[in-house]
Amino acid sequence: MCGIVAYTGPNPAIPVLLNGLKRLEYRGYDSAGIAVEGADGISIRKSEGKVSELVGLLGEDEASLKSSTCGIAHTRWATHGPPTTVNAHPHAGGKNGIVLVHNGIIENHRALRTTLEGKGYVFVSETDTEVLAHLVDSLYAGDLLEAVTTALKEVHGTYGIACLSDQEPGVLLVARRGSPIVIGVGADETIVASDASAIIKHTRQAIYLDDNDIAKITGKEIDIRSLNNMPVSRKPAEIDWSADAAEKGGYEHYMLKEIFEQPEAIRNTLRGRMDPERGTALLSGLDLTPRELADLYRLLIVGCGTSMNAGLVGEYAMEDFAGVLAEVEQAAEFRYRNPIVGSRDLVIAISQSGETADTLAAVREAMDKGALVAGLVNVVGSTIARETGRGVYLHAGPEISVASTKAFTSQVSVLLMTALKFARSRRMSVEQGRQFVREIESIPSLVEQVLAKNDEIAKIAEKYVEQTSAFFIGRGYMYPVALEGALKLKEISYIHAEGYHAAELKHGPIALLEASVPVIALCNDGPGKDKTLGNVAECRARDSRVLGIVTEGDEEAMAAVDDYISVPACPLHIAVVPSTVALQLLSYHIARLRGCPIDQPRNLAKSVTVE
Ligand code: M6R
Repeated sequence: MCGIVAYTGPNPAIPVLLNGLKRLEYRGYDSAGIAVEGADGISIRKSEGKVSELVGLLGEDEASLKSSTCGIAHTRWATHGPPTTVNAHPHAGGKNGIVLVHNGIIENHRALRTTLEGKGYVFVSETDTEVLAHLVDSLYAGDLLEAVTTALKEVHGTYGIACLSDQEPGVLLVARRGSPIVIGVGADETIVASDASAIIKHTRQAIYLDDNDIAKITGKEIDIRSLNNMPVSRKPAEIDWSADAAEKGGYEHYMLKEIFEQPEAIRNTLRGRMDPERGTALLSGLDLTPRELADLYRLLIVGCGTSMNAGLVGEYAMEDFAGVLAEVEQAAEFRYRNPIVGSRDLVIAISQSGETADTLAAVREAMDKGALVAGLVNVVGSTIARETGRGVYLHAGPEISVASTKAFTSQVSVLLMTALKFARSRRMSVEQGRQFVREIESIPSLVEQVLAKNDEIAKIAEKYVEQTSAFFIGRGYMYPVALEGALKLKEISYIHAEGYHAAELKHGPIALLEASVPVIALCNDGPGKDKTLGNVAECRARDSRVLGIVTEGDEEAMAAVDDYISVPACPLHIAVVPSTVALQLLSYHIARLRGCPIDQPRNLAKSVTVE
């Protein structure tokens, strides 16, 4: 949440900072700001709204700032205090010219604020970050590293920070606890960011700070220490995706681009991991020792939002094919309800970003309780990937759109592979395994067939643009699809949408059905279809218009609904993916027709690094 960029080196800082902010805007976009060093100290410029507002503001006086070669910048997702200019970062502290940007939450900010006010500090914003700026100032005695280190020992909560002092030109301090910081190592310059997409244009060499690391950067000199002032060695890692992967590539929105990237993303997810001969999946990150396998009692899947919805597909497949007890749990709930989990449980944490605070907390809880813990993560080098130490990368490429699309379909693909792998280590025959391999390998082409219906889906979307409320229903494997379809629609189009099990509709929500409330029903051919068609009839009897996702050629389902989008025939555990893609396109086109800011929906941020 929120984005940080910082630069120190021989080149003008402002273009690097602004370019980085634009790359990070998907992380937060309610206000933005920049601070650069100059002959007269540090200049700060901030504005409400998107980065483009800040760019406009800088246009007026850029000449006086453009020679600066050291600066920090931030794009905000408000937590403490509304999204106003005064609450935007950077924040300045006291008399020593301390200026900093911060991601995360300082939990003891009230107590610190009271103490600092007692010392005469005057606060201008409502943010927890300003507390940190004044705290560093109050501890400054000529050494920024020492002041920041001491301040960070006093704060509770999470932070990723970048800090300057006008007493020490050219020195940049960065630190992290719970909020990512990546240091891009250039030939003669250093670019810091909260995520690699802001540095890839300049360098592929990245150092990922660990919690409680603090780095003093002077040009290309990087001195990393622990908060106990012990030197820390962190080797640079190569960022393996291209700068182009994070561009829109001619599409109107990142979301549409990422929807269309799915066949390739899933192919990359599967690459080298299918063994057609042995009829199994090769996922070395999930290899258990024979003892662990024999002892395995349960698979627990934790995640949030879209990742949790994918986890539900994994739960069904794991029980269905592998006969392993599986449960999905909302990550925040897992952490706080004192779950019964132990060494016979394998906990899989699913996260596109690898930084979601609740999922990370669940990982730590599971590790503390002695469970086997693995990550299913897209962003290489992210905190969950590193802390779990084992797991499977999605290899779906960077996902920029706040609405998750290709991460979901890659997650489902990995979870199906996981079910296959465990099934084969238990009772599934090699022939059945080979069949499963063929099914999984067919997913990219099934998705391509749905993408070919983009125009048709855009036309259908026109009929659903005016609604203010909608229900998505499904059964079995199609239940998670209903949840994910509703999540997509509500987050990007602002239409109130709920995903329900088709049978659950009668237990309350049906009271809301009327002509103005459409129902999107997953009526794919397979077990449960007849019952869902019965539910469809119940909805239509209450005047709801029903849009069905049906299997190609299924005349019965087509006749049972008002409108339909057909997806290719395939088993239901596989149909999850093409059906979800159809709903992604539907949501996208509805949001587009409603004129919504698709890639940056209000109030949302791409990675939720606060609880
Ligand atoms: O990065 P993660 O997968 O851990 O993120 C979890 C959710 O915040 C995320 O899936 C969210 O629900 C998406 N915006 C939905 O499109």
